[in-house]
Amino acid sequence: MDLQAVVDDIAAKLAERRGEGKVADYIPELAKVDPKQFGIAITTVDGRVFTAGDATTPFSIQSISKVFMLTLALGTAGEALWKRVGREPSGSAFNSIVQLEHEHGIPRNPFINAGAIVVCDQVLASYKPKEAIGEYMRFMRSLADDDSLLIDRSVAKSETETGFRNQALANFMRSFGNLHHDVDHVLGVYFHQCALAINCVQLSRAGLFLAAQGRDPISGYSVVSAKRARRINALMLTCGHYDGSGDFAFHVGLPGKSGVGGGILAIAPGKASVAVWSPGLNKVGNSALGSVALEMLATRTGWSVF
Ligand code: DON
Repeated sequence: MDLQAVVDDIAAKLAERRGEGKVADYIPELAKVDPKQFGIAITTVDGRVFTAGDATTPFSIQSISKVFMLTLALGTAGEALWKRVGREPSGSAFNSIVQLEHEHGIPRNPFINAGAIVVCDQVLASYKPKEAIGEYMRFMRSLADDDSLLIDRSVAKSETETGFRNQALANFMRSFGNLHHDVDHVLGVYFHQCALAINCVQLSRAGLFLAAQGRDPISGYSVVSAKRARRINALMLTCGHYDGSGDFAFHVGLPGKSGVGGGILAIAPGKASVAVWSPGLNKVGNSALGSVALEMLATRTGWSVF
């Protein structure tokens, strides 16, 4: 299959739809991003890279970072993490608080904001806040095979200044005893992980271990066990797009994780890791054109897991 022709065709077909959706504006720095951008990158398990559009323009990783921080937390806490966070889709918005009250402060899954905040708290059992961010950056740079990755401090600051909802989630969970560290420290780590600037090429490279049974097929480095990679993919499939997860599985059929920066990481197990980016979001906060692009890709390649 000529994957370069496939991505070129997707970018060409979506050219006139650039700007669809609504850029996230609840984080003021993100509202400044030009909505007419679109990029796609595929890194295959045999190390080939195919790109089209704005594939080397950095964007804010936002919630896609939750996949990588979860991987780190499972590395330090192991299965004990699951006592503090569930593995069920929430059917609610990514920043919803409602289920926490009836469910003892235990978030439904590690990809909604409440769950990702617990994951950060778990990482702080092993590292001080600055070390946790350092560890995350080392991990991201090594997975992306690119030492130039940086956190966008203006995005982290913007989110710190306006993160009232996340502060509420963190304090609420603390009241149930499911947050063990200072709320500001936990959120400091969370906001910085979300503020990583990354492009489609780097992101598709960083996700490659999930397409290759936990082992980076290019460096040969084992990131997680095959069993853990399978489980992270299962969570991405069922929970990676919040209350849009069912729809994403229906249309695309790949484990995926979205972010409000407009990026989506999708994994075709045994085949490739794919990153798409377009800042305009649909009603549930996932990239509008990114979702369409992945549906086109899945249709053309037959890569759906179903
Ligand atoms: O906490 C937040 O609201 C953002 N840092 C991340 C949310 C996000 O990316 C949701 N994804 N679609």
